Amino acid sequence: AQKSLKEAYKDYFPIGVAVSPRSLTGSETELITQQFNSLTPENSMKMGPIHPEPNRYAWEGPDAIIAFAQKNGMKVRGHTLCWHNQTPKWFFTDSLGKQVSREVLLDRLKSHINEVVGRYKGKIYAWDVVNEAVPDTSASIYRKSKFYEIIGEDYIEKAFEYAHVADPSAKLFYNDYNTESAAKREKIFQLVKKLKEKNVPIDGVGLQGHWSIYEPTAAELEKSITQFASLGLAVQITELDVSVHPKEHERREKKPTDTGELTSEMVEKQTAQYKMLFDVFRKHKGTITGVTFWNVSDKTTWLDNFPVPNRKDYPLLFDQNNKPKKAFEGVVNF
Ligand code: XIL
Repeated sequence: AQKSLKEAYKDYFPIGVAVSPRSLTGSETELITQQFNSLTPENSMKMGPIHPEPNRYAWEGPDAIIAFAQKNGMKVRGHTLCWHNQTPKWFFTDSLGKQVSREVLLDRLKSHINEVVGRYKGKIYAWDVVNEAVPDTSASIYRKSKFYEIIGEDYIEKAFEYAHVADPSAKLFYNDYNTESAAKREKIFQLVKKLKEKNVPIDGVGLQGHWSIYEPTAAELEKSITQFASLGLAVQITELDVSVHPKEHERREKKPTDTGELTSEMVEKQTAQYKMLFDVFRKHKGTITGVTFWNVSDKTTWLDNFPVPNRKDYPLLFDQNNKPKKAFEGVVNF
């Protein structure tokens, strides 16, 4: 019989998947428990969804994911405690709509992290503490987010410290995309190096892994893994998908390169790309402590609407009928 992903990789790292609470009672449920041994809430633990109003947390969805994971013996990776996207406006403003002070925002960040991490203490083994704090192109290490503008660069170390106090045994990650582009890799490296030097409780770097059939190369990927590992940090692949479209090019040009039809050339390229990626992950056994896919199957993926709205993508290992693709074979047979 065909091995599952989690069986094939049991001596390497957990294989995770991003889910919504609804996907745990639908057509994908069986595939989720068959193939994966770790879950990440795709949206429901982000600041906006989990903390929609100053005095209200929405625990129902996240609680359901945790309960499902515990029932099925799966780990949970938390995502994410501090991000510039999907964060409600109220976080940064007072009741009159005026921007809050550094002290007030730090206080809010602290109590948010304390509540969320504290509630799931011992149930979430790793957290993406800060997400996407480094800009793609500007020379600065720091993205000019509201957190940065109001608090200053130390919002990052504060977030890690708050999370560590709330659950001292959770592994804490800095998470970002485009981590294989030379310029951004270097900036992220500078950022996490500073954190390490200041003894900030950071355990690892999450490479989101929103890749494509054209990128990254094995050499670029290995460079990121070994460079972060040189600081004594673990590396996890936190949001893996391999788009069949030339994503970076489209982002730059802001127009689609094709209609969304799947060609046999794309299938071949994707199979080879997935094989290469997992060859590299296995080669760095010990450093790579987790690999999480961003969605279950090609039936629905966030890439159907990104970076081009309403254009189908096929980035995962299972097809639109939840059947394993050719790329799956290349990943489990090694
Ligand atoms: C995405 C979700 O998949 C979508 O459902 C949502 O509309 C937007 O966010 N980087 C991240 C993830 O860290 O949280 C994002 O998830 C994808 C990019």
